[in-house]
Amino acid sequence: SETTENFVIDEKLISDIFKPRQDFSHKGTYGKVTIAAGSYGKIGAAVLATRSALKTGAGLTFTIAPECGYEILQISCPEAMFIEGGSKMITDFGSEDTTVYGIGPGLGTHEETEKGLLEFLKKHHNPVVLDADALNIISKNQTNLNLIPKYSVITPHPKEFERLFGSTENSFARLKLAREKAKEFNIYMVLKDHHTQVVTPEGNIFYNITGNSGLAKGGSGDILTGILASLLAQGYSGENACILGVWLHGRAADLAAEKYSKESMLPTDVINTFGDVFEELN
Ligand code: APR
Ligand code: MG
Repeated sequence: SETTENFVIDEKLISDIFKPRQDFSHKGTYGKVTIAAGSYGKIGAAVLATRSALKTGAGLTFTIAPECGYEILQISCPEAMFIEGGSKMITDFGSEDTTVYGIGPGLGTHEETEKGLLEFLKKHHNPVVLDADALNIISKNQTNLNLIPKYSVITPHPKEFERLFGSTENSFARLKLAREKAKEFNIYMVLKDHHTQVVTPEGNIFYNITGNSGLAKGGSGDILTGILASLLAQGYSGENACILGVWLHGRAADLAAEKYSKESMLPTDVINTFGDVFEELN
């Protein structure tokens, strides 16, 4: 751990990572995303994650959600294709190996959803993005951690981190534990906070300094899941997807705060501000 390093995510790093869209390209160039999210009463989580994937450049976007979300999703995300994964909650996560899955927002932790998710993880070996209730389900049994595909991205907020790996004395101890677990399980960790930290499987840490308290509202995390799955689908490495993803999420939030105020800005406004951030990058 003496050889690991700490970095601040600055504009230079972001402009090195960002890949502009190519003229000679087609939707296949930009990958497929499958968002698995939502349950009865939390279809909004699936809408936010799906719209976020759509608005960050993925080539094709699918949403696995329960049947009760069918009309809501087809109307609010007409560019995405709906896949029914259950009736009021997802029980079947599919098995589409060529798409990058973003799993978790609003899933609930019902035992049928748990069964479906664990079955999926047992047979899926490509990297996925795991958030929210996907992490809460994994937390139910420590052996579940071994099912996370190598080089996946997990995006716990502090409570979710504690459920996964246990409580720590302070944020320094938490970061140390995160670094050990990222190495042990070969995963990227996005530790969501005021200054979100990306921890790599090598144990390096990247600190994000964009973002503001206007993000302290339900739904802000759901859109990060969509961003990360979309960037992975477009061929960014795990490390670069996490770094660019958290920076973009925060930068869009900063521009949304200027336009709408921290009080009034909604996660939907943040999604609608992604375009301004891409204009800055291009
Ligand atoms: N400053 C900067 N960024 C912030 C701030 C802040 N004060 N507060 C929140 N954020 C950012 C975080 O860094 C993270 O990217 O907003 C996002 C919040 O994500 P979550 O904590 O996952 O919140 P969200 O998903 O919107 O909550 C909805 O899902 O994960 C569950 O338990 C969660 O019930 C909750 C639900
Ligand atoms: Mg969340």
